[in-house]
Amino acid sequence: ATVFLNDTFLPAEQAKVSVYDRGFLFGDGVYEVIPVYGRQPFRLKAHLSRLQSSLDGIHLTNPFDDERWTQLITQLIEQNDSDNQAVYLQVTRGVAPREHVFPEGVKPTVFMMSNPLNSVPESYKEQGIKAITVDDIRWQRCDIKAITLLPNTMLRQQAHEKGAGEAILIRDGVMTEGSASNSYAVFDGVIYTAAKDNTVLPGITRDFVLELAAKANIPYKEESVTADRLTQADEIWISSSTRELLAVTTLDDKPVGHGIPGPLWQKLDALYQRDKL
Ligand code: PDD
Repeated sequence: ATVFLNDTFLPAEQAKVSVYDRGFLFGDGVYEVIPVYGRQPFRLKAHLSRLQSSLDGIHLTNPFDDERWTQLITQLIEQNDSDNQAVYLQVTRGVAPREHVFPEGVKPTVFMMSNPLNSVPESYKEQGIKAITVDDIRWQRCDIKAITLLPNTMLRQQAHEKGAGEAILIRDGVMTEGSASNSYAVFDGVIYTAAKDNTVLPGITRDFVLELAAKANIPYKEESVTADRLTQADEIWISSSTRELLAVTTLDDKPVGHGIPGPLWQKLDALYQRDKL
């Protein structure tokens, strides 16, 4: 596959990063995952705007303007085979002697790759997925899309070992989001999802789902749901750029609602599939 590193496109096998890169040594960087449907990036502007917020959050200057990012992403998509792709990009603080304090005058390292975006398996759509609830052990700046994903990977692994597809995170007694997704609960026809604050990533898919809900006159509230109340939800969902909108039909080994994807999920997923193109 062709990837992009710093200023050139090259075969992945030839792309090399220094062992002194701060991304490698400190996890000092931010990233984006942008879905591509029919070779068109989905909500690219929103992704670039969130990238800017993440860079601002870690006090790193954006190496490119949006026009340049758009050109590079377009070229990367062209150089990869699939019609549907997941573009991954990351910016790290660059190569410098290992010292915690930010180095000065160092060029950030920019890396981009694109993988085929596999469509969500039909069985997940028909049956929904399993999830477990776990303590949200992450930091206080979950609004930054940082590459430092050790807590997320540990929590997701915990879910995986229990045969579940996602870990739903609980902080201070309320649901924040999934390990790699935003999360929702439905009560009496109203969708609840956490407000955008420092405890969750402001998901681009989340915005899309809430826009679809508004268009379909389905009420939603950006309010947190307690872990206790979550056990009584009619429906629970997760959303992300790569998994779109999925129903969680088993939570901690108990059925959610009737244990099948619910009517509001059905409705929103249909709109999602129509409007994503
Ligand atoms: N993750 N919350 C977390 C912690 C995430 O990692 C993600 C996405 C989301 C959903 O954001 P969006 O709708 O913009 O994809 C929420 C990506 C897909 C990943 O790490 O692979």
